[in-house]
Amino acid sequence: MTNISENNKTPGAVDVVIMAAGKGTRMKSKLPKVLHLLAGRALLQHVVDTAADLSARQVVVITGHGAIEVEAATAHSTGSSAGFSINFVRQEPQLGTGHAVQQAAPVLRDDGIVVVLSGDVPLTQTDTLQQLIAACAGKHLALLTIDLADPTGYGRVVRHGEVVQAIVEHKDASAGQRAITEVYSGIMALPAAHLKKWLARLDNQNVQGEYYLTDIVKFAVADGVPVVAHKIADAVQVAGVNSPVQLAELERAFQKRVALQLMEQGVRLADPARLDVRGELLCAQDVSIDVNCVFEGQVSLGEGVKIGANCVIANATIAAGAVIHPFTHIEGGKPGSKDAIEVGAGALIGPFARLRPGARLGAEVHIGNFVEVKNSTLAKGAKANHLAYLGDATVGERVNYGAGSITANYDGAFKHRTVIEADVHIGSNCVLVAPLTIGAGGTVGGGSTITKDTLPGALSVARGRQLSIPNWKRPAK
Ligand code: UD1
Ligand code: MG
Repeated sequence: MTNISENNKTPGAVDVVIMAAGKGTRMKSKLPKVLHLLAGRALLQHVVDTAADLSARQVVVITGHGAIEVEAATAHSTGSSAGFSINFVRQEPQLGTGHAVQQAAPVLRDDGIVVVLSGDVPLTQTDTLQQLIAACAGKHLALLTIDLADPTGYGRVVRHGEVVQAIVEHKDASAGQRAITEVYSGIMALPAAHLKKWLARLDNQNVQGEYYLTDIVKFAVADGVPVVAHKIADAVQVAGVNSPVQLAELERAFQKRVALQLMEQGVRLADPARLDVRGELLCAQDVSIDVNCVFEGQVSLGEGVKIGANCVIANATIAAGAVIHPFTHIEGGKPGSKDAIEVGAGALIGPFARLRPGARLGAEVHIGNFVEVKNSTLAKGAKANHLAYLGDATVGERVNYGAGSITANYDGAFKHRTVIEADVHIGSNCVLVAPLTIGAGGTVGGGSTITKDTLPGALSVARGRQLSIPNWKRPAK
């Protein structure tokens, strides 16, 4: 990841401070608020990822309530993809937003532009923050603001003429100030040197007895530093999560954004309101997706792929022309690992199929209803159409795997592999006790329990011979 300061000496490196020490009482949850998931990612993770998109030099996260859990979860999920390491700073007790940022001051360098974000405001877009940073221009105090029809509870942006004079918190505001509809979003950008100087001047002489970060606006005005309000119209970008209702509303807003992007690329969604993408969904041309589908992790759909209604698909690559019929569950493991799932071109999967980690299906494979496939490779044209289990199996081209057949892959301690060579026909209700190889072109008679390797081309039958006793009289009372 590149760094703004390396590419471009002005306006300077960006250091991000994320406030995440608040309690989140209204979530009524044991989980710290910023760890609740939106589109499969913790709220705080969205904000950290936005900081990564900004090519931040440094990210300071202020933690307090649930600090240990928040720090563990965030450090864990950030990994090496970001160009920075996260600095966690504790705020104990929590005495207000100004007090929160005061805790970060010692670790902030003097030469940067500081962008202040909140861990519970997940959907601010990177370009909006870039515009805010541009408005700061390396020397001003830039505030992100918005007009709200109902500004209750927010800090009001007080102006003389056009010039911003102060932010007054709702509880401290006069009736006249409460009539102002322009509110502060909680997001600002300013030079670190100014921030540090002004933080030292904060007091808690206000209705809430808190150290308000917003008081620095007065200091900027007093010091003759221009205050620029960058006003946006999209409320979703500054909306915070305080309750399950707000979380669900933002989830829908996020999903709507994703659905619109997909449709703009040409993806046909039966209903954009009934799609959930909790990760990354890549679609080639002419993909269609029916209602109520959930995509998790990294999913890639090739040209012309059709996804039926009510499918859940995680970490899978589905090649061109494949059709996933309704109610199919595809749960691949870690993206890029051997547990990720591959579905070949023109394959037909489902309805009611289950593909588990490590299922790798070649072109034109058919997996029908109530068939489970785990850690198995099926070569081109292999078919398992009904009620079957394939676990730890290597299946050759054109194999036909009968209804009700299973690989007995687990002996209670170890997993064993079943190899079914090309052109084998496995009858219905067979048990293939691994480790085992069924030779190419062979046939296994229905109802067989096969425990030993079979020869290519052979018919193998392993079941009680049929006995028919003529004129059998059933017991009678
Ligand atoms: C703040 C702003 C207000 C703005 C609003 C936008 C102040 C004084 N007021 O108000 O002008 O309109 O956001 O949503 O800044 N936090 C800490 N430690 C604390 C207090 C808060 O880390 O001691 C964190 C919270 O977890 C949260 C963020 O700071 O992520 C904002 O705190 P919150 O209490 O929601 O601020 P508001 O009073 O809503
Ligand atoms: Mg508050």
